[in-house]
Amino acid sequence: MMNIFVSGGAGYVGSHCVRRLVAGGHRVTVYDNLCAGHRESVPEGVAFVCADLADRDQLSKTLGEGFDAVMHFAAFLDVGESVKAPLKYYQNNVSNTIGLLETMRDCDVKRMVFSSTCATYGIPAEVPITEQQNQAPINPYGHTKLAMEWALADCAKAWGLGSCALRYFNAAGAAKDGSIGEDHDPEIHLIPVVLQVALEQRQHVSIFGKDYPTPDGTCVRDYIHVEDLADAHLLAIENIHPGVFDAFNVGTGIGTSVRQLIEAAREVTGHEIPATDAPRRLGDPPTLLADPTKIKSQLGWRPKYTDISAILETAWEWHRKHPTGYTR
Ligand code: UFG
Repeated sequence: MMNIFVSGGAGYVGSHCVRRLVAGGHRVTVYDNLCAGHRESVPEGVAFVCADLADRDQLSKTLGEGFDAVMHFAAFLDVGESVKAPLKYYQNNVSNTIGLLETMRDCDVKRMVFSSTCATYGIPAEVPITEQQNQAPINPYGHTKLAMEWALADCAKAWGLGSCALRYFNAAGAAKDGSIGEDHDPEIHLIPVVLQVALEQRQHVSIFGKDYPTPDGTCVRDYIHVEDLADAHLLAIENIHPGVFDAFNVGTGIGTSVRQLIEAAREVTGHEIPATDAPRRLGDPPTLLADPTKIKSQLGWRPKYTDISAILETAWEWHRKHPTGYTR
């Protein structure tokens, strides 16, 4: 049993991981300023501190209570916004992470699982992407995440931090029981947008670009179920070695194009889901596909969801039960 501090534990990926950690027998404290997270997503019985990572007094006080490990989810994640407001991203994703690392060092907490992203690879030279591939992000969001991977590797050498960066591909789906799921405001991600069309909250989905060098001309992504991501976090935190930084791709290795995804959503929801062609979105790589060999062989991770329709079914269950999200 570990005592685990979870920053951003009320967010989309964080909340699913908190449940997994609790189910795995660990004690969890969620630290979240609720700027994007939802108090309702934190299970009863889990300690909750509503505070900002920039509040160093509160952070020191909480971390000083004695933790074995940190899972660090709290971050901004909108790629387009990061292009327009880079300093907002550097402030939260870099400065606040450095503050967290300093506080961990001061409180002698030497294990961290860090939410990284396939956006650190930029436009990959080859797909599927292995961890050895060059990391060359093409937007500020990706820069902030890569900078923090470097910081973790440096802290491993300097003061023995053991850490693991999980490079998520496209997090998708919701808890199987439909109780927690994705609720961003504004919503920018393809799956929730498509399902909002099925709920008739939007008139259509825009397909951002149809002239990419992919089989049907639309972008291909590797959608990874959020509960499979949660399994990866549990395995990662239980396998961290002091003084070692390691990084793993977390994806299925299976690609789904925007058009294929919309088609699958039509079948799952029974709704026609009107789609219109729109210009490319800035900073979208044509294809992002994980090679998950390393996490499979080193941590024994296996995704339970490899079929996009099964992933969509869980997301649809959440959106149908919570058509306006948690509280709105
Ligand atoms: N898309 C549309 N229409 C929409 C929304 C999205 O066509 O209304 C397309 C996008 O252009 C992209 C694909 O659907 O090709 C998936 O888009 P998402 O916004 O759902 O996800 P991204 O691939 O852009 O983003 C994800 C994570 C980011 C991460 C990024 C890495 O959410 O945090 O992968 O590229 F940085």
